[in-house]
Amino acid sequence: MKPISGFSKMSKVEKIDYIVENILKGDNRSKELIKSFWHSNDKLQSVLDDFSENTLTNFYFPFGVMPNLMINGQLYCVPMAIEESSVVAAASKSAKYWLERGGFKADVVDMKKIGQVHLYWPGKASKLIEFFTSKIDILREACAPITANMEKRGGGLLDLELRDKTDLDESYFQIWASFNTVDAMGANFINSVLERLGKSFRALVFEEESFTGYEKDLQVVMAILSNYTPECLVRATVECPIEMLEDKNVGMSPEEFARKFERAVRISRMDVNRATTHNKGIFNGIDAVILATGNDFRAIEACGHTFAARDGQYRGLTTCSIKDGMFNFTLEIPMALGTVGGLTSLHPMAKFSLELLGKPDAAELMKIVACSGLAQTFAAVRSLVTSGIQKGHMKMHLMNILNHLEASDDEREKVRDKFEEEIISFNGIRDYLQELRNY
Ligand code: MEV
Repeated sequence: MKPISGFSKMSKVEKIDYIVENILKGDNRSKELIKSFWHSNDKLQSVLDDFSENTLTNFYFPFGVMPNLMINGQLYCVPMAIEESSVVAAASKSAKYWLERGGFKADVVDMKKIGQVHLYWPGKASKLIEFFTSKIDILREACAPITANMEKRGGGLLDLELRDKTDLDESYFQIWASFNTVDAMGANFINSVLERLGKSFRALVFEEESFTGYEKDLQVVMAILSNYTPECLVRATVECPIEMLEDKNVGMSPEEFARKFERAVRISRMDVNRATTHNKGIFNGIDAVILATGNDFRAIEACGHTFAARDGQYRGLTTCSIKDGMFNFTLEIPMALGTVGGLTSLHPMAKFSLELLGKPDAAELMKIVACSGLAQTFAAVRSLVTSGIQKGHMKMHLMNILNHLEASDDEREKVRDKFEEEIISFNGIRDYLQELRNY
């Protein structure tokens, strides 16, 4: 393969031809494969193409639902886009389990988002901070053309301050701004305001008569939102009397189950290896809903993991308590989401997902997503401390293997019978199918 310039300028068909000729050695089957995933509706395909660059085709993902998720007394059927088998099944099982025990409770603690302009200025910190504070009204005024619309919708630029960061690096300061972006994720809005703040403040410093020489030169390194939004926080909880945890499928008393579950959650808060896996289980549920609703799962993940390490050690994001006969399992997680703008209205399936959820506002979606994460991790930890995770996983794994080996219905039944009590492996099943087919 050779480097190429001008690839992005080629048409989609030219790009495919180029790749097939130059990378896939002219294998036309690949061309057919790529084209077979194009949408039959050209207009829709061109919308999908334009979400990204150098698009060749679509990459399919299963889109499923978790019915029966009751949050604060309201029932939801939650859309989930995820490729990992058993996630939707486990979350759905958990939703049903808690439906029979009072459902999930959720509340939004706050919805504040953060942006920073990173500055270098080689003067006395107190002088710049005093100057900035005296110019806040002018800076707000400079941003008014950008903030006016957001203000009409009930949001806008909240607090504005200059932070002295010279303890981290010589001459380093930050304009620290907080925002309410209402139902929009608000990245473009925040970044536009920040860029305007940076430029305006630099100009004000340059024009200021009491600043001389090097003091005139305020350097703006960058202006960008922070994806760490600990004050855009949602809390999701399930709670019930311990005896209500009684479940004949788990093979232990509700007291023993609660104790083992609480210990497992405690371990996730003490041990970084377990914490990572535990949080992965939470994000199995969260990411699937984030993707289905057209939100940015990378931002949510990055923020969640930083929050998990906020006291200096990476910990599991949930807590579990057993107190006065009550079992409580809670997830607290920051989550900057949008239900208007961006992909939420452009991607037909994201739009459909929001309709399925009853067109929630951003706060309501935060609750739905957090409860989906809690449902998912409840199912995972429940399996881990009872039957073990492999029982459920292997059932789904078996289905994938059977699909891969293109087993007929009859073969599937025979394989299921044979492997009921045996260890499931790709090779074992392939060999058994071979035996059946040769027979
Ligand atoms: C697998 O995708 C997720 C789990 O590992 C989560 C957990 O261990 O809690 C099952």
